[in-house]
Amino acid sequence: MAKKPATKLPSAPATKRAIAVQPNLHQEGHETQKYGEIVKLPNGLSEDVCKKSVALLNQCLADTITLRDMYKKHHWQVVGPTFNQLHLMYDQHYEGQVLLVDILAERVQLLGGISLAMAADIAEVTRIPRPPRGREPAAVQIRRLAEAHELIIVAAREAASAVDEAGDDGSNDVFVSNVLRTNELQVWFLTEHLVAASPVAT
Ligand SMILES: [Fe+2]
Repeated sequence: MAKKPATKLPSAPATKRAIAVQPNLHQEGHETQKYGEIVKLPNGLSEDVCKKSVALLNQCLADTITLRDMYKKHHWQVVGPTFNQLHLMYDQHYEGQVLLVDILAERVQLLGGISLAMAADIAEVTRIPRPPRGREPAAVQIRRLAEAHELIIVAAREAASAVDEAGDDGSNDVFVSNVLRTNELQVWFLTEHLVAASPVAT
């Protein structure tokens, strides 16, 4: 028996195929969710509770991003007899802050909020004083870092109580187990460099 010829499906004209795979780089900029708005998710928390937690988390996020970046600045600019030790410790602490940034930002998103992200927005929101662009002595670097840590620690304790009272246990855990514990530990490592016998003390 003669073999039936295979049915040929009609193909799209060449120009249409080309259009379908051509990236469209002329996308209009528009927001699908405004900063401050909450998308209600089925997490058993009211919109009001999520909104308040998101505001506290975003403040902590802005301060944490600033502290993270201050660690990198000081990692690059440190000088003196303890250069290597501080250079390495600053980077270890930087990595710890990087982890916190992601935990905080994703906590904001999973509560239905919008996390802060860009440097210009962080600069407007953070409460940590801006250091000079230039280089400072190691002891001053450490003092600036310790003050930034303390600001975050005090705020994290207050935020932990506030979200706990509102019933947001997950955010309470982030403020206590992640933010508070990491910052307390880093303060210890940092400030032990400022004892009188230390070569970095002034
Ligand atoms: Fe480095």
